[in-house]
Amino acid sequence: MVGGAEKWVMMVTAQTPTNIAVIKYWGKRDESLILPVNDSISVTLDPDHLCTTTTVAVSPSFDRDRMWLNGKEISLSGGRYQNCLREIRSRASDVEDEENGIKIPKKDWEKLHLHIASYNNFPTAAGLASSAAGFACLVFSLAKLMNVKEDQSKLSAIARQGSGSACRSLYGGFVKWIKGRDEDGRDSLAVQLADEKHWDDLLIIIAVVSSRQKETSSTTGMCETVETSLLLKHRAKEIVPKRILQMEEAIKNRDFTSFAQLACADSNQFHAVCLDTSPPIFYMNDTSHRIISIAEKWNRSEGTPQVAYTFDAGPNAVLIARDRKAATLLLQRLLFYFPPSSATDLDSYVLGDKSILKDAG
Ligand code: ADP
Ligand code: DP6
Ligand code: CO
Repeated sequence: MVGGAEKWVMMVTAQTPTNIAVIKYWGKRDESLILPVNDSISVTLDPDHLCTTTTVAVSPSFDRDRMWLNGKEISLSGGRYQNCLREIRSRASDVEDEENGIKIPKKDWEKLHLHIASYNNFPTAAGLASSAAGFACLVFSLAKLMNVKEDQSKLSAIARQGSGSACRSLYGGFVKWIKGRDEDGRDSLAVQLADEKHWDDLLIIIAVVSSRQKETSSTTGMCETVETSLLLKHRAKEIVPKRILQMEEAIKNRDFTSFAQLACADSNQFHAVCLDTSPPIFYMNDTSHRIISIAEKWNRSEGTPQVAYTFDAGPNAVLIARDRKAATLLLQRLLFYFPPSSATDLDSYVLGDKSILKDAG
């Protein structure tokens, strides 16, 4: 907080990691509340290399709400930003900073304006879940600024209204987004299945195939899928409910064989559903397909899975190795098939745990 009684700025900065689904969310039953057609499960990545940092500031000298994303001003007029701002403002409490002599009574939050600056330290809108880290961080930092006294689960239901996948980034470790039954979406929220220490053998390698912005946003893509894909109906009703139970069991028992089989099958089915959309959506490219083949061949030759792969709505691979030894062997294989010196197919690798970023560009 800076300034005197008349001219002051109060700020809060927060950092939120992204999350990658191992059982995918794809398809909404309610577009404006962002209610999904099925439950999903994700793993929250370590924040060192894949996170959003957001600073929210309030001051009586601000004449309107404004936001900058990665240094460029963006419009806050979209329903998603407005929904998050409205939901947080309506839960604001009195805020008092005795040291600087500033008091913001609860009722003032409706008329005070905000400046928001957000930065993603990884590619935005490229299929690495920037909307998840972005909206989770926005809601979390606003809630801190306005002294909102809701638990993480309630905040997750607000973040969900910014971007569905964002609700899962309010927790670390393994997280489930329960689709809920209520029409108003109150019970469509995230719960933590296991914390980050539960299965710390796992290592995550992200192979950045392309950091370019995707042609079809997740929002547009899944809307077209809901309208046109018959396979999605089967997936949401018959396949995912069973997989959710199996995945919960695999995570609980740290059963990597089941975990890998389920994660790979679900990623492949999600991309099959994209292909079943009219017109078809291609998020993966030839390099993504080559990475799948490398992982599949290696898993088969070892007899038990060493690596799970999953691709979100983009060509970038998220590879989850069963332990440090498997991660080293996997990286060797990737470097053999995609030597950095050729600077062709892969942009960079990001290693989970205490990540290492290797940029070939
Ligand atoms: P991704 O695969 O990266 O999640 P999406 O198409 O789902 O891609 O969402 C990208 C959109 O999410 C961006 O165009 C922007 O509107 C929003 N977004 C990304 N990062 C942030 C952020 N840090 N704060 C707020 N909104 C963000
Ligand atoms: C493939 O959460 O980005 O990453 O709710 O429209 O903002 P909106 O979509 P978004 O979709 C994510 C889809 C996915 C799978 C997942 O994260 O579960
Ligand atoms: Co997204």
